[in-house]
Amino acid sequence: MKVLVSDKLSEKGLEILKKAGGLVVDVKTGLTKEQIISEIPKYDGLIVRSGTKVTADVINAAKNLKVIGRAGIGVDNVDVDAASKKGIVVMNTPEGNIITTAEHAIAMMLSLARKIPQASASVKGKKWEKGFMGVEIYNKTLGVIGLGRIGSIVASRAKGLSMNVIAYDPFISKERAQNLGVELVELQDIFKRADFISVHTPKTSETTYLIGEKEFAIMKKGVRIINCARGGIIDEKALYNAIKDKIVSGAALDVFEKEPVQPDNPLLELDEVICTPHLGASTDEAQLNVAIDVAEQIVDFFKKGQIRNAVNVPSMSAELLSKIQPYLTLGEKMGSLHAQLIEGGVKGITIKYSGDIVNLGVKPITISIVKGFLQSFVGEGVNMVNASFIAKERGIEVAETTTSEAHDFASLISVTVKTEKQEKLIEGTVFGKNDPRIVRIDEYWVEASPSGNMLIFSNIDAPGVIGKIGTILGDDKVNIAGMQLGRNKPKGNAVSIVNIDSPIPDKTLQKIRSMPNIIYAKMVKL
Ligand code: NAD
Ligand code: MLT
Repeated sequence: MKVLVSDKLSEKGLEILKKAGGLVVDVKTGLTKEQIISEIPKYDGLIVRSGTKVTADVINAAKNLKVIGRAGIGVDNVDVDAASKKGIVVMNTPEGNIITTAEHAIAMMLSLARKIPQASASVKGKKWEKGFMGVEIYNKTLGVIGLGRIGSIVASRAKGLSMNVIAYDPFISKERAQNLGVELVELQDIFKRADFISVHTPKTSETTYLIGEKEFAIMKKGVRIINCARGGIIDEKALYNAIKDKIVSGAALDVFEKEPVQPDNPLLELDEVICTPHLGASTDEAQLNVAIDVAEQIVDFFKKGQIRNAVNVPSMSAELLSKIQPYLTLGEKMGSLHAQLIEGGVKGITIKYSGDIVNLGVKPITISIVKGFLQSFVGEGVNMVNASFIAKERGIEVAETTTSEAHDFASLISVTVKTEKQEKLIEGTVFGKNDPRIVRIDEYWVEASPSGNMLIFSNIDAPGVIGKIGTILGDDKVNIAGMQLGRNKPKGNAVSIVNIDSPIPDKTLQKIRSMPNIIYAKMVKL
């Protein structure tokens, strides 16, 4: 396996990659876009920091690429959608630089409060100006927006500096905030109450311009703003106006809407603005941490097939993987079975999980069901990374529900596929540790092992149907390995699953389909 490291990575990370054995590691930094496009077809793995722009062009030029590792948190420099579409795993290292970045935000807040960068520049300009009047942070209110990994460290450090900390994060529970000693408030309250505001959300469509003209208008006069998250969470134009209008008395920015920051960015002309060139994660410790993390993740990916910290596929530990694997296999087979049985344009897939299985975390199982389903249409190009993406692209809605209540089985997966013509239900479970079974098709209870070649047919329950099918198969040299029959009531309808040793020739299937009392007959391969 060949791995390209295209940004500077701490030596320790390179050592881990090289010592793993079986990986050929090339370090080629500072490549132009054209150079990386011409290099990438040779590689199975790519490791970047923020310098390399892994655009759709780069991804589409890749022939063997299986994984992209980002030494850092933000994957804004990687076209994750393009990677997902090609089935390439994108991983980041979400833990290694959080302390460093939180410390940077605190350093920026103190520098802002005491105008340290401005005073330093003045002294270095051979002046002795005493007018750099600051404010204390003691007893002031810090409003943290985004109480995740970094935001919560900032909150705890700020409390250590005797600040009152309030926070807004719609995805954090009151209990979590309480444990951090932070008052969880509405976004509007942050604007109305905070003396300092520090943003720590990811940049998403919801957080882009989270702070703009309307928000500045209701802020406490003299508020100070810190952004060590991502440029564009704060509207730079609105920030400039709010400083000019004396609503904001200072801003500390590590990140900008356009990076590197444009020389003509008007914010750079304001004395009230202090800035750093996206240095939030720039400490020896953080760079060492992220290099080690990304190297270990890439080694585990190639050597153990383990996916950690992926942003486009659910991650799982080796222990969880071993528990969930039988359900992944079952799910894929159920998806494939559905795809081979249904008729009509597919509208949606609804998956219900019941019983113990819900404790395993069902997201990967859902993906394997969708993968198995799509494989019949799309072929081998579909994998765990791009399955959800391809389903969405084809307008197939996937819904998932869970209930810990169990009825006939300790764990049960129920998959309903709705098409323009019909709605079909298949249920499956795992017997023992690793014995997948299909236990229901529509209203018919069965108990069939989902493997190999299968004839599945439905018929009106009448004497002679099964015998006749046995004779047709025998005459055409198709050997029956096992058979399961389920019916709703005597003389009602029935479904049968016949495991066979070889595929059924078309002419044999036609003979079965043209028999009286046959509703449908399909040849399935799982
Ligand atoms: P995280 O995912 O741990 O935390 C983000 C938090 O934001 C989550 O708790 C989430 O619930 C919350 N959130 C999401 N949408 C929100 C919204 N609309 N309003 C309020 N809260 C919302 O992320 P993290 O690791 O703490 O990183 C935070 C930010 O810092 C990211 O943007 C990351 O890219 C950036 N970062 C910057 C640097 C740097 O060098 N300046 C370094 C590392 C990380
Ligand atoms: C990150 O996302 O980890 C930070 O922005 C730092 C970096 O770009 O490496």
